[in-house]
Amino acid sequence: MPGYNRRVDLITGSPTRRIDMLREKLSREGKDVILLSTGQPGFLPPRKLREKLASMLLDDKDLKLYSYTPTPGFYEVREAVAEDVRGLGGPNLDPEQVVLTAGGQEAMFAALSTILDPGDRVVLFDPTYFGYKPIVEYLGGKVLWVKAPVENGYQPDEEELKRAMDNKVKAVVVVTPDNPTGRLLSLESAKLIADLAVERDAWVVVDEAYKTLVYEGEHVWLYKLAPDNTIAINTFSKDPGFPGWRLGYVYGPEWIVSKIRLMSEELVYCPPSIAQRAILAYFRDRELRMKHLEEAKRFMVERRDAMLAGLSEVAGARYVRPGGSMFVMVDLEKPLARVGIDSEVLARRLLEEESVAVIPGKYFGPSSNYRLRLSFATESPERIREGVRRIARLISKIAS
Ligand SMILES: Cc1ncc(COP(=O)(O)O)c(C=O)c1O
Repeated sequence: MPGYNRRVDLITGSPTRRIDMLREKLSREGKDVILLSTGQPGFLPPRKLREKLASMLLDDKDLKLYSYTPTPGFYEVREAVAEDVRGLGGPNLDPEQVVLTAGGQEAMFAALSTILDPGDRVVLFDPTYFGYKPIVEYLGGKVLWVKAPVENGYQPDEEELKRAMDNKVKAVVVVTPDNPTGRLLSLESAKLIADLAVERDAWVVVDEAYKTLVYEGEHVWLYKLAPDNTIAINTFSKDPGFPGWRLGYVYGPEWIVSKIRLMSEELVYCPPSIAQRAILAYFRDRELRMKHLEEAKRFMVERRDAMLAGLSEVAGARYVRPGGSMFVMVDLEKPLARVGIDSEVLARRLLEEESVAVIPGKYFGPSSNYRLRLSFATESPERIREGVRRIARLISKIAS
């Protein structure tokens, strides 16, 4: 039998996708599952934008609409992205510092595969988004976990981070606003990460997927703190909310971005054309963009508050009020550890016995085995309340 690259076995697949498949199966069997698992926003992109796209598709006979695009994306779209980042209070970027990608996932793979050599050490926070570890390990890197405990508001532990950084670290990967906890990285934590990275000649890879979905507090721009060392990953899956159209971008120092761009060419050749047109129309209409953002935030806050109201009634639950993103990470160590039930078993029972889909904490880091990630991105506030009520019911049944 011909062989294969054994490191492929380190890619175990996204738990969200697995839970989604299970949920689809249950739905086909007629079960109404409350979806607290997915990071897909429950709103449509703005109507005016959809109308513009519809008329573009019907009336614009230019072949360009269907052609390959330049590898890093259309120049005017990169220009619009740079303007948007500046308008949001972010750094001043030259369009040549921006590469459009087929979503944040491709952005992450292209960036990490450009900077990592086999054997390189990479700091990940515990908990963090489950997407980074498989890529780091597939590329032959070694993950160094640094705790970001719930007692610390899910901010990284300063001493552990300093110790880890003494180990010739090549990169620190951090996401803010956070998936899975919803915490915003504090300016203090961001400065520590930036200063350590600069001192040790390491990269900061910051995932800004949720940077426009901030409800309380402010997004901290790591690139501004360490411009020579920071590569930022972004996506349009969350705002304006077209994950299926696969568009994201990377920005950073021009010399490394020009290499990421070549990697991206090998991976996807060019980012999707129609999604670039959509983003251009969205960004060029500033009023539309800002109005949609306000609506998206209102949508999320209403759902977050419904979730938090429900969670206050779950005995023994600890969590941090999310300042951004679409998630709450609920620590259930108190009720679960005593009875020896971990997050995987709890998530399975929630799906089977209560028809509620959640993501087990263990996928987000080694100390998250008694945690659940709950998403408030999709369901109505009433269904979110009902979902949390069912979680409370199962936990009290298990704990009694
Ligand atoms: C933190 C984070 N980064 C990246 C991604 C990937 O997003 P995309 O849909 O753009 O590939 C996600 C998706 O949920 C995410 O939550």
